[in-house]
Amino acid sequence: VTGYLDDCTCDVETIDRFNNYKLFPRLQKLLESDYFRYYKVNLKRPCPFWNDTSQCGIRDCAVKPCQSDEVPDGIKSASYKYSEEANNLIEECEQAERLGAVDESLSEETQKAVLQWTKHDDSSDNFCEADDIQSPDAEYVDLLLNPERYTGYKGPDAWKIWNVIYEENCFKPQTIKRPLNPLASSQGKNKENTFYSWLEGLCVEKRAFYRLISGLHASINVHLSARYLLQDTWLETKWGHNVTEFQQRFDAVLTEGEGPRRLKNLYFLYLIELRALSKVLPFFERPDFQLFTGNKIQDAENKMLLLEILHEIKSFPLHFDENSLFAGDKKEAQKLKEDFRLHFRNISRIMDCVGCFKCRLWGKLQTQGLGTALKILFSEKLIANMPESGPSYEFHLTRQEIVSLFNAFGRISTSVKELENFRNLLHNIH
Ligand SMILES: *[C@@H]1O[C@H](CO)[C@@H](O)[C@H](O)[C@H]1NC(C)=O
Ligand SMILES: *[C@@H]1O[C@H](CO)[C@@H](O)[C@H](O)[C@H]1NC(C)=O
Ligand SMILES: *[C@@H]1O[C@H](CO)[C@@H](O)[C@H](O)[C@H]1NC(C)=O
Repeated sequence: VTGYLDDCTCDVETIDRFNNYKLFPRLQKLLESDYFRYYKVNLKRPCPFWNDTSQCGIRDCAVKPCQSDEVPDGIKSASYKYSEEANNLIEECEQAERLGAVDESLSEETQKAVLQWTKHDDSSDNFCEADDIQSPDAEYVDLLLNPERYTGYKGPDAWKIWNVIYEENCFKPQTIKRPLNPLASSQGKNKENTFYSWLEGLCVEKRAFYRLISGLHASINVHLSARYLLQDTWLETKWGHNVTEFQQRFDAVLTEGEGPRRLKNLYFLYLIELRALSKVLPFFERPDFQLFTGNKIQDAENKMLLLEILHEIKSFPLHFDENSLFAGDKKEAQKLKEDFRLHFRNISRIMDCVGCFKCRLWGKLQTQGLGTALKILFSEKLIANMPESGPSYEFHLTRQEIVSLFNAFGRISTSVKELENFRNLLHNIH
């Protein structure tokens, strides 16, 4: 895919150069640090929409949680370690919680209220259902040891997940018969034109929503093709690029034009997350913000690297203009934004229905990361401020949100880089 992208003023080549040479290497380094590699997640939450039928026993779906002594204490401590103020607040909460644990006289309601309190009061900004990381089922996972790659999870179960996302959560009207799910596109070829004129006719926000989901789907498929299980014997398991698999998903001819559209959506997703990162820079620039793990020197170095990356991102010349979304009539825009948020929250819940744990892990992480990006872009607390003064002190991100935001962007950034690798591989074949 080359040239200009729809719904923004940007071209693929500029993004490729910027990502592959400036951003990607530094971002990879940052994501290898302790702060970013440990992600706390509850993979045992039951699916809220249907009964889990598959407890898939595929070997490569397994997720290995961390032993408790692997994760630095600084990360495990409940305090946020952003600012003194936040720390004090959390300490008070923890005390109240401990009190609740011994003092049975505290009503259940009060205990709940205290728990709510620790979640901060900005949940109305959130695009994701907060994962219940306080649950005893939540565990730390080392993302470096559990990479996103081909697992063999496919067939009806995997199909169902994408299907409900596209069919029930993407603003699809009854009148459109063509399945939105690209995996099903061969069944509805003759409806193609109606579909694209429908998509064109949508307001830019709903189209954006569809494109984000499609971009996420494309990105995941790039990874599965780039880290395909090529060889599997008792001597050796080998992961690498499978050009055939890539072509089946993205080749213009084989997919009848769908593939390049999917890739454009991937670039669109890239731009959205890139813009969110550039916008949230002032939050990370606060002197009291730390990437706290307890290792003072390392933490300071990581923060420097993080700021370097964010300044680089800020300098990107062709940022997406989020003001083009949810503009127009105020009341309508508000309603639309609320719809957008509810749909997205719903998708984050659907992730608990993914049968393969490895896929569930990366699905949850990437939806939470994208949800955090949307929260940054559209937070009222940001808008209420002077546009250029950046996040106010009311604006807050939890460690979970920070880790998922950067790792999710790291995935998209890797996809863009992998597209270059596939281009070279295809070039050598021809
Ligand atoms: C899930 O299983 C329970 C018990 O087997 C049953 O009562 C319930 O109706 C099922 N729910 C759905 C959505 O199938
Ligand atoms: C949430 O997703 C479920 C499962 O796809 C669907 O049945 C439901 O209508 C969705 N709700 C909203 C508000 O989108
Ligand atoms: C590559 O993927 C295709 C399916 O797209 C599969 O048939 C083939 O066996 C894979 N190649 C290798 C070396 O695993």
